[in-house]
Amino acid sequence: MTETRRGLFITFEGIDGSGKTTQMHRLAARLREAGHEVLETYEPGGTPIGVQVRRILLDAANQELCATSELLLYFACRAQNVVQSILPALREGKIVLSDRFTDSTLVYQGVGRGLGTEVVLALDRICCQGLRPDLTLLVDIDLETSLARAHARNRTLRQADHAFSETRMDDQAADFHQRVRKAYLELAAGEPQRVTVVDGRGDVASVEQAVWNAVAVRLGKLHV
Ligand code: TYD
Repeated sequence: MTETRRGLFITFEGIDGSGKTTQMHRLAARLREAGHEVLETYEPGGTPIGVQVRRILLDAANQELCATSELLLYFACRAQNVVQSILPALREGKIVLSDRFTDSTLVYQGVGRGLGTEVVLALDRICCQGLRPDLTLLVDIDLETSLARAHARNRTLRQADHAFSETRMDDQAADFHQRVRKAYLELAAGEPQRVTVVDGRGDVASVEQAVWNAVAVRLGKLHV
């Protein structure tokens, strides 16, 4: 299935508040300026069905959601996104940018929740049809910065009087987020060709430049 694709699949990863979403939008704008066709997507979500599943996953009211249901719901979103959105765009030659993908599940559910990476990889084989990111940008920040940013954001969302508060994952204990960050860094160390770590503590413009450098290398490699 994926051998026929011509596009490039780039994912953004990082703990909550790392700034990866801002960076992904900036990269998309820069790629479009350079003449590329770009699809931006995100998980959990990305499709109309995925958005409905996202609500179950992130609603702070759903405290009783068990770890296995959580795992399967993240993959339900992903299976839908892969088939309905990502693979068709790649076949059309687009550059697809995704705010999170299977690496998130490896570190949050596999390590953070302790479900193990094997079960995550097995579900990935079922749901993703062999699709793997060509490049993953891990925007890394320390936990203190992450929590400060996430709390500020969630306060703003609550003040904006959203119908529900998307904080179920953010509300996890600090040691959960610490395990997740460590797992991300280990994953990056294990796959240096695919995963580039970008220091997310700098100002937005300098992080943007670091992201661009990593992508430019990859585009250069593909188009020589
Ligand atoms: P989101 O509001 O998109 O946060 P962020 O801007 O930090 O990406 O919420 C996504 C949350 O879901 C985030 O806490 C990470 C978590 N998550 C998982 O636990 N497993 C997954 O597979 C994915 C895609 C996300």
